[in-house]
Amino acid sequence: MQLVRALFRTASALSWLGAAARIATIPTIPFTETGGTYNVSMLTDIVVDSRYAEEVDNIGQTLIPPTLLEFAQTFQGDLKSVLELDLKLSQATKRKPNSIFVTFGNDTSFMDAAGRWTQEGYKLRVDDRGLVVTGASPLGSWWATRSIIQATVAGNSTLAKGSGTDAPGWGTRGVMLDAGRHYYPPEFLVEMCSYLSFFKQNTFHVHLSDNLYNNVERYSAEQSLELAAAFRLWSDDQAVAGLNRRQNESYTREQFDNVQIQCAKRGVTIIPEIEAPGHALVIVQWKPQLGLDDLSMLNISHPETIPTMKAIWKTFLPWFHSKVVHIGADEYDSRLVSDYTHFVNEMNTFIQTETKGEKSMRIWGTFTPNQGANISKTISYQHWDVRADQPYYDYIQNGYNVLNSDDYVYLVGGWSGSFAQELDLSKIFNGPFGSPYSPVVFDSKAIGDNPSRRNPRVLGEVAALWNDYGQNSTTVLQAYYSWRNALPALADKQWGGNITEAEYTSIFDTLHAAVPAQNLDRKIPSRSDTILHYTFDNSNSNTVRDRSGNGYDGTIHGCHMTDSTIHFAGGCYLETPLSSKGRDYTLSFRVKPTSSNPGTLFAGSDSTFVNGNGTITNATLISGGSPYSLNYTLPLNNWTDVSLVGDGNATRLTVSTDGSKSETMEFTTRIGVDGEYSVWAPIGVEAPLARVGEGFTGLMQNIMLRGSAA
Ligand SMILES: *[C@@H]1O[C@H](CO)[C@@H](O)[C@H](O)[C@H]1NC(C)=O
Ligand SMILES: *[C@@H]1O[C@H](CO)[C@@H](O)[C@H](O)[C@H]1NC(C)=O
Ligand SMILES: *[C@@H]1O[C@H](CO)[C@@H](O)[C@H](O)[C@H]1NC(C)=O
Ligand SMILES: *[C@@H]1O[C@H](CO)[C@@H](O)[C@H](O)[C@H]1NC(C)=O
Ligand SMILES: *[C@@H]1O[C@H](CO)[C@@H](O)[C@H](O)[C@H]1NC(C)=O
Ligand SMILES: *[C@@H]1O[C@H](CO)[C@@H](O)[C@H](O)[C@H]1NC(C)=O
Ligand SMILES: *[C@@H]1O[C@H](CO)[C@@H](O)[C@H](O)[C@H]1NC(C)=O
Ligand SMILES: *[C@@H]1O[C@H](CO)[C@@H](O)[C@H](O)[C@H]1NC(C)=O
Ligand SMILES: *[C@@H]1O[C@H](CO)[C@@H](O)[C@H](O)[C@H]1NC(C)=O
Ligand SMILES: *[C@@H]1O[C@H](CO)[C@@H](O)[C@H](O)[C@H]1NC(C)=O
Ligand SMILES: *[C@@H]1O[C@H](CO)[C@@H](O)[C@H](O)[C@H]1NC(C)=O
Ligand SMILES: *[C@@H]1O[C@H](CO)[C@@H](O)[C@H](O)[C@H]1NC(C)=O
Repeated sequence: MQLVRALFRTASALSWLGAAARIATIPTIPFTETGGTYNVSMLTDIVVDSRYAEEVDNIGQTLIPPTLLEFAQTFQGDLKSVLELDLKLSQATKRKPNSIFVTFGNDTSFMDAAGRWTQEGYKLRVDDRGLVVTGASPLGSWWATRSIIQATVAGNSTLAKGSGTDAPGWGTRGVMLDAGRHYYPPEFLVEMCSYLSFFKQNTFHVHLSDNLYNNVERYSAEQSLELAAAFRLWSDDQAVAGLNRRQNESYTREQFDNVQIQCAKRGVTIIPEIEAPGHALVIVQWKPQLGLDDLSMLNISHPETIPTMKAIWKTFLPWFHSKVVHIGADEYDSRLVSDYTHFVNEMNTFIQTETKGEKSMRIWGTFTPNQGANISKTISYQHWDVRADQPYYDYIQNGYNVLNSDDYVYLVGGWSGSFAQELDLSKIFNGPFGSPYSPVVFDSKAIGDNPSRRNPRVLGEVAALWNDYGQNSTTVLQAYYSWRNALPALADKQWGGNITEAEYTSIFDTLHAAVPAQNLDRKIPSRSDTILHYTFDNSNSNTVRDRSGNGYDGTIHGCHMTDSTIHFAGGCYLETPLSSKGRDYTLSFRVKPTSSNPGTLFAGSDSTFVNGNGTITNATLISGGSPYSLNYTLPLNNWTDVSLVGDGNATRLTVSTDGSKSETMEFTTRIGVDGEYSVWAPIGVEAPLARVGEGFTGLMQNIMLRGSAA
């Protein structure tokens, strides 16, 4: 009797929990359990509903939406790479036992925060026959596949039976990266899309042109025309000949297409931005007659300015596969508000006409209607700073749609006098007003100056990472580390999930290790902390045996090996099967240079470690084309024990020559601040591993890579 009552109480407690239940993934998934579990290892098939296999989502931001079948193919690959689940993919109109059935279904339960239907919604059902995904569109089904991978990893391959309906609160969720003042290789953008997508973010806004130093007025015209400024798209079209003078730091059409396609495959749309009439020094460097006194701003009343901007957009609009494009339009001369309005509206009409209404335009919040700006309501605003505008009063109440990029979560790479370098978890979970941050928080000072969660004019949130101090202030991968640990938490809030900080902290590492199609951590599989160990004691062979147990044997190209020593001369080198190792690591070796000629000690895909460059002899790491030198040169004709250590965002070198006391130095970057002064900041450089000793003259012994910082 008592037992029965206890059981009954447990059951009712469970059903009460069931009603409010959700799976604590990132974002959380609303889910009602019905009792029992399903073992994901029993799955054998993915079955795509053949009636909808060729459907695409035409509502989202991309113009190149994958079909339901294509999304399922990407999912199939992810299941294999992440879960080692090798499922057959087929089409049918019905479920099959132990399959994931992917179908289409629509009803009114897919609601955003404003209570509107959204095509990004999906239903997930788990029962003894397997899983059913019912997407409101192929994109909705895609988000369900992220839920499945996450729930499987979080549940150690066991899923609770039950079902859930999930939909994002806001349609635009993601990040903005300043690729104007820092070049990022296309492969990096693609890997970032994989990262965003895993946490259901759908937007990657890429800022494609800009210049260093806002206060250009402190320079002479001659100096300004030489300041770093870049335009990242490379076209051979005569209309833009001379605009881009950095071919090796640009995207060709093919590369940019590939980035957009790879990202779209994972539900992420690239929103391109070409900035004008402010932050436009690169355009003035091309056509100096178009500048105001501050040469980073275009003189809109100059008769060639608008035609020049139209020529640029006419060239590049066909490159872009998004429904929204961004023309920048921030931080312009406040005496020229009516020129500004004219420019923005003229560009809007041009872009709409040129694309036959396929694309709409976005600008940064800058001048408000109160300040006299009279911008077409077809344009959306992207708010970034409450000193520039009060989105609720200035835009929303005036009938504009607004995307939130408030500086509450604004980052600046490397160093900043006022902004952080890495997203802060506590800001996301505690928010400015004691509850988690959300896309409707535009004003983090006054809660009442924000719209309600249900306001339909809030498009969503995009967290910005700027590179005010240019290329050498950070490495490429430092952008990822700015976001790595906390962006998924923000993604939960952008979606409308409610993961708690404690849940997030307990699940983050597990889910992070399962993000498919990227290796931003530059992880290397290893049996132990020792990843690679070359002792050079297997002579008479071109193979260098790896003693770590991982089998990462090296190959010698022309060098010789004697007495546990490799001799580098005449351009010979040692090749390893590895490329780059991210945080944390210790790369140690013994080295004896026998010539003062510069050479490469180690080279990898993210960095190079050299002893000098021909002008200087300093030990130098090069990453993203920028050199970071120590005040130190390896002594000639002496044996030095060296450890290169990546410890969080610090990179250090410890040296000890002929057994003497060791000395530790840190690689840092000298960041020039607005041409006025400079500061030193840490620089986090990956360990270069692909080739050893190319161009170096001297000896090396005992190369060892470990996966921890010494
Ligand atoms: C999260 O939201 C769900 C509804 O989706 C609710 O049932 C649950 O109680 C909430 N959990 C927390 C921890 O706030
Ligand atoms: C799940 O199924 C696999 C394969 O059938 C089996 O090896 C494993 O033990 C099962 N796990 C659980 C928790 O039942
Ligand atoms: C799905 O249902 C919603 C709400 O009833 C409706 O607005 C929408 O047009 C439907 N979409 C499709 C593709 O059927
Ligand atoms: C996950 O399941 C596997 C096999 O079913 C088991 O060996 C392992 O210990 C489990 N891990 C956790 C964290 O529960
Ligand atoms: C902008 O261009 C107009 C038209 O060419 C010219 O009259 C004006 O002086 C220019 N303004 C500046 C600040 O150069
Ligand atoms: C370096 O890491 C520390 C500790 O995580 C962090 O506070 C700082 O902002 C980071 N600096 C940069 C330049 O990334
Ligand atoms: C070597 O590096 C120094 C300092 O960064 C630089 O001034 C010099 O131009 C470089 N020399 C070569 C040949 O690259
Ligand atoms: C591009 O080439 C220039 C000139 O050779 C060089 O200074 C720069 O570092 C290169 N950029 C990258 C990212 O390698
Ligand atoms: C090199 O020495 C200079 C002058 O002492 C110092 O300002 C600078 O920080 C040192 N550089 C590094 C990378 O330690
Ligand atoms: C190279 O090292 C010397 C000291 O050994 C230092 O004076 C010089 O500034 C360093 N060069 C660079 C480019 O850091
Ligand atoms: C290098 O070795 C020579 C002897 O071969 C010695 O005189 C010199 O002090 C050593 N240099 C350093 C930096 O240890
Ligand atoms: C980085 O570039 C700035 C110019 O923007 C220069 O002043 C600074 O010395 C460079 N830092 C390093 C470490 O070369």
